[in-house]
Amino acid sequence: MKALITGASSGIGRDIARALVCRGWDVILVARRAERLMELKEELGKHAQCVRCDVSHTDECMKLHEVLKDQDIEMLVNCAGFGICGFFTETSLDKEMEMIETNIRAVHILTKLFLQDFMLKNKGYILNVASIAGFFSGPLMATYYATKNYVVSLTGAIYEELKRRGSNVKISAFCPGPVDTEFNKVASVKFSSAPIDSKTAAAAALDGVMQGKLYIIPTVKMKTLKFVKRLMPDKAITHFCYTFQKKKR
Ligand SMILES: NC(=O)c1ccc[n+]([C@@H]2O[C@H](COP(=O)([O-])OP(=O)(O)OC[C@H]3O[C@@H](n4cnc5c(N)ncnc54)[C@H](OP(=O)(O)O)[C@@H]3O)[C@@H](O)[C@H]2O)c1
Repeated sequence: MKALITGASSGIGRDIARALVCRGWDVILVARRAERLMELKEELGKHAQCVRCDVSHTDECMKLHEVLKDQDIEMLVNCAGFGICGFFTETSLDKEMEMIETNIRAVHILTKLFLQDFMLKNKGYILNVASIAGFFSGPLMATYYATKNYVVSLTGAIYEELKRRGSNVKISAFCPGPVDTEFNKVASVKFSSAPIDSKTAAAAALDGVMQGKLYIIPTVKMKTLKFVKRLMPDKAITHFCYTFQKKKR
């Protein structure tokens, strides 16, 4: 069994790679920082290979699939992603375009290409790392939340299509709240509520995708938040999100 993991050089992706190897999988580690990938490859030994790839470039995503499509990959983990914080009129347009390329476009391309392969074999797993943010509008992190809404929505639609076609292929959206990784450093934010560690997050994500869950939400607090959203008007929820996000700055 072999899995391809984007965003494997750090945080959740790195711990998903470690957990998969513990569960008997071989892993293909993908990210931009080659030295980080090499360190992890050394740790994981013969079970790992690494491919340096900037998934924000469409041609690099296409090449990644082209080079690896004959390797009998059974799991795709779309984990590469990042966020930025600030009023929408003040955040960098260039950085937001890069975020949309990474958090949306790369997920879209890789999901389609590998899903087509998995459908032919009628087996495989796709784990799209979204966020609890994927169920909300997020003032002060507007673009990041919007990218995760895309991932949740796309995954939900594909899940239903697979079910209707009687496919054995599984697809899940992993939707955690705060996880202790390098995410905050990259986004220049701090936690406004206690994070879980990325090892716990990784284990929950893998258990969930193997069980065929659509949404994998690893804590009771975040499950409650999603439930409460159903009971409150959208504007009130977004008002609450602003207060929550403001504490992160
Ligand atoms: N931490 C949280 O609180 C949290 C909560 C919910 C969801 N998430 C999601 O979890 C995922 C992983 O984030 P994390 O928390 O583990 O943060 P992280 O420690 O900063 O890891 C982000 C990973 O994404 C990779 N990456 C970013 N841009 C890339 C690009 N253009 N091409 C290839 N790889 C790229 C990074 O590798 P390189 O820099 O080496 O390329 C790194 O391996 C993200 O999608 C994030 O939105 C995080």
